[in-house]
Amino acid sequence: MSKLEPGQRMTVEWRGRPVWIINRTPEMIERTEGFDGSRLSDPESQEPQQPGYISGPLRSIRPEIGVLIGICTHLGCSPLFRPEPDAVDMDNWPGGFFCPCHGSFFDLAGRVFRNVPAPTNLEVPPYRFETDDIIIIGEDEETA
Ligand code: FES
Repeated sequence: MSKLEPGQRMTVEWRGRPVWIINRTPEMIERTEGFDGSRLSDPESQEPQQPGYISGPLRSIRPEIGVLIGICTHLGCSPLFRPEPDAVDMDNWPGGFFCPCHGSFFDLAGRVFRNVPAPTNLEVPPYRFETDDIIIIGEDEETA
């Protein structure tokens, strides 16, 4: 991911599914960490949508690098990347993803908003860092 600039997202494929890797800027991190959790369905990631070593509002190993399965947890559409604060028609949008199929919203950590069709946060696959620039998806420190 050496070509992944701050603020950008890239998509790779793992087991036939799209995996997004998002390089979050300090501002994106601040907006996500500071977001009002009462507007989210599962702000603390209580549902088993991530490996056990993933916790906290950013749902990632490194704060700046988000890794998410890019499939909406409602009926499987691919949500759109809408990282800017004014990118969707919503007050205090923190940046994130919008699923156009039935109107679900997720923040930049893949946490789902309340009162949308998607029932759970986006899934975080197992992963680990081989080097600073290389992520291995589907393998983690436990299985390596
Ligand atoms: S598939 Fe995403 S909102 Fe329905």
